[in-house]
Amino acid sequence: MKGLVLHGAEDVRYEGIDDPEIADARDIIVQAKACGICGSDLHLYHQHGDFTEIGAGFSTAGKICVGHEAVGEVVEIGKAVTRHRVGDTVMLSGFVSCGRCAECLRGNSKMCRGGGWNVYGLGTGLGGCQSELIRVPGADHNAAALPEGVSIEQAILLTDNLPTAYCAVLNADIRSGRTVAVVGLGPIGLMVIELALMMGASVVYAIDLVPERRRRAAELGAVPVDGGDVVEVLAEATKGKMVDCVIEAVGSDRTVKLALDLVGIDGTVSILGVNNEMDFRIPPKAFFNNVTIRGNFATEITRYWQDLIALLQAGRISPERFITSRYNLSDGTAAYRQFSNNKAENLKTILFP
Ligand SMILES: NC(=O)c1ccc[n+]([C@@H]2O[C@H](COP(=O)([O-])OP(=O)(O)OC[C@H]3O[C@@H](n4cnc5c(N)ncnc54)[C@H](O)[C@@H]3O)[C@@H](O)[C@H]2O)c1
Ligand SMILES: [Zn+2]
Ligand SMILES: [Zn+2]
Repeated sequence: MKGLVLHGAEDVRYEGIDDPEIADARDIIVQAKACGICGSDLHLYHQHGDFTEIGAGFSTAGKICVGHEAVGEVVEIGKAVTRHRVGDTVMLSGFVSCGRCAECLRGNSKMCRGGGWNVYGLGTGLGGCQSELIRVPGADHNAAALPEGVSIEQAILLTDNLPTAYCAVLNADIRSGRTVAVVGLGPIGLMVIELALMMGASVVYAIDLVPERRRRAAELGAVPVDGGDVVEVLAEATKGKMVDCVIEAVGSDRTVKLALDLVGIDGTVSILGVNNEMDFRIPPKAFFNNVTIRGNFATEITRYWQDLIALLQAGRISPERFITSRYNLSDGTAAYRQFSNNKAENLKTILFP
């Protein structure tokens, strides 16, 4: 089969790789119909240093087939698989766990006793999803039939970005009337804005270096913070109160520090951007101000499917609007170049094998 293989910094190539095989009775093999490029893939693409220390599992060693978002057709099933049949269209969870140990059954898959959790395409044992064929372990748990009324492109968002945005919104304690700031307006930051407004935020301030991305946020109903010192601008806009809920969706110390400077008394900072610098300081005022800080670098995707599928089916959210770019998988090199050059208006990028 063919897939996208990372050879080094900014060097992704479409090339031949070994076909995956059923390795366990609970595996299935899926032939991809569509796959996504995530902001996390960009950390690998730019070789943003070593992520192993923070336990994110990213490996920059060796050539790896990349990607962790895919929807496809089941082409082979292991003997112990009960939920899937050959020919079904399924969406994968980018985050994988065994799904049957006591911790997984309790919804605590980061404590999985059946081999621990993992993510595809990070060089930690599971092949990448930006390929024609994918081996899905524990498939009854880590894959689900394409839900009725959900498109393949919406389902790609369910494999990672939308649950990540939703988890971060829940972690930020957003409720009706709350003021919100989102730092980083990539596909996930924009989904955070859509969800925050749906969940009753009174105002959402949108912060990014790229004007086109701030404009996209404004179209959703957010207030773009255009120019000036962001802390000063928000201090003035909020009459010194600052913001109830801040979401960091970039993945750097600089933006974590900014998020901590934007939160007000009794507020919450929710960090979703995967950051391997981790050398920031929590300012003393956060302790005086009863601030809550939550971080989640690895969203347990399946935990949020039920809520999000219901919202998609009811037409309450339309995150597919953030899909701006579609490429053949064979043009993956160009797709990576475009998505990583976020000066352009390119947002969520989908690849078709
Ligand atoms: N927690 C999880 O489970 C999870 C899952 C998927 C992705 N992620 C992470 O989410 C982050 C966002 O990913 P994405 O897919 O939305 O795409 P992305 O990485 O393209 O988005 C990042 C955005 O941040 C902006 N940015 C960069 N520096 C900035 C600064 N100093 N101030 C303000 N904005 C700045 C960029 O212009 C860009 O719009 C990445 O770090 C990714 O690794 C986390
Ligand atoms: Zn991801
Ligand atoms: Zn488990």
